[in-house]
Amino acid sequence: MTETAARDGLPVGPSRIAVIGAGYVGVPTAAVLADAGHDVVVAERDADRRTALAAGRSPMMEEGLEELLARTLASGRLRFVATAAEAVAGARIVVLCVATPTGPDGRADLSDVDVAVGEIAAHLASGAVVVTKSTVPVGTTERVARLLARPDVHVASNPEFLREGHAVADARHPDRVVIGADDPAVADVVASLSRDSDAPQVITDPRTAELVKYAANAYLAMKLSFINSMAQLCDALGADVGVLARGIGLDPRIGPSFLTPGPGWGGSCLPKDVRALQSIAADAHVTVPLVDASRAVNDSQADYVAERCASLVTSGLDGAVVGVLGLTFKARTADRRDSPALAVVRALLARGARVRAFDPTVAPGCADADLAGIDLAGSADAAIEGARVVVVLTEWPEFARVAWGSHRPAAVLDTRGVVDVGAAAAARWRVAVLGRPGS
Ligand code: UDX
Repeated sequence: MTETAARDGLPVGPSRIAVIGAGYVGVPTAAVLADAGHDVVVAERDADRRTALAAGRSPMMEEGLEELLARTLASGRLRFVATAAEAVAGARIVVLCVATPTGPDGRADLSDVDVAVGEIAAHLASGAVVVTKSTVPVGTTERVARLLARPDVHVASNPEFLREGHAVADARHPDRVVIGADDPAVADVVASLSRDSDAPQVITDPRTAELVKYAANAYLAMKLSFINSMAQLCDALGADVGVLARGIGLDPRIGPSFLTPGPGWGGSCLPKDVRALQSIAADAHVTVPLVDASRAVNDSQADYVAERCASLVTSGLDGAVVGVLGLTFKARTADRRDSPALAVVRALLARGARVRAFDPTVAPGCADADLAGIDLAGSADAAIEGARVVVVLTEWPEFARVAWGSHRPAAVLDTRGVVDVGAAAAARWRVAVLGRPGS
């Protein structure tokens, strides 16, 4: 299709690209590459997911993704197929975007990587470059090369830093591009995937590139656990964590982002990657106490929030109806994997509370196992009605517009700083905001 420029037998211009795995990383990555002019074929073994995507329907909530799918599918530059073997036939670049969930021992489970590599090995074109975007333990790029057993094929690491809900924008405008390749010509090929971006490039060996991803997520987790600890301290001392965050964040060495306290950090990446980094360090006989402490602080945050709720109900939580607003791990996603909101719900249920919850992405009839024990409401008003205490756990913007005046006043604990405190107080609600004075 294109004028692929060959240098050292390697592709540097628009290319035939295979993406293995149509998940949170694979779909936005593939769609953005197709939009940039590459000819992209995505392998997805789940038939329902594949059919939906081929019809332009996104299985995940991602701003701008369906519009991008519609455009790239119509252009013919994006296709979905069932097998990895089919996707890689004729591809010059193969991007592995399969899941690497936490295994039983805390290590990343590489089964899907191994299966994908096994499926593609015999079908790769000579000179193809296999790029790992999945978050994988240090040494995995070497392992992929070993398993492929194709000396005529190149391997490289190119970790992604996409945020859920912003994946299209992040894939299009990354703040940096990290490439791990032993051969500079191979690094150039991987860099050609981001040729529309002027983001700084960090070109290094595969092991360092793999570790950069874990270090980035562990650092973010550490920053969040730090501010959550400060929120607890502010609660105890009558200080204001919002002002504290601004006061420290204006120091450019600290920076203002990732300093909003909450019910804890969750989602599909931070918890998994922190656990995996602990295992990587343990295997290397290195202690990482800051990483351990970040996780310990996070593990205790749900209990802290439940205790704060209990402190707002004079007769205790046993048998009390608690209205919960928000179940996803953050707003603008339907993802509840490792959601701190669910950890708080479990802590409330353990204290005998009756939990009635509303989340804009959860239908009242939903029977998913992670929602067991929760009475699901169809609106914020229905979750609040008659509750002894309401707790806001996800920062959905609509929670700023709750009509507190239409309910019998009780107490509300806002862990995300989204409630219109003036409106709630005017309606005679007792308002407590995590880390803020006056509650
Ligand atoms: C994260 C990383 O940001 C991304 O670079 C990586 O590729 C994948 O993991 P994501 O899982 O989408 O992305 O979530 P993110 O937006 O980073 O939030 C992580 C958690 O921290 C959420 O539970 C969120 O609510 C919480 N958070 C974030 C806060 O509590 N306060 C903040 O200030 C920021």
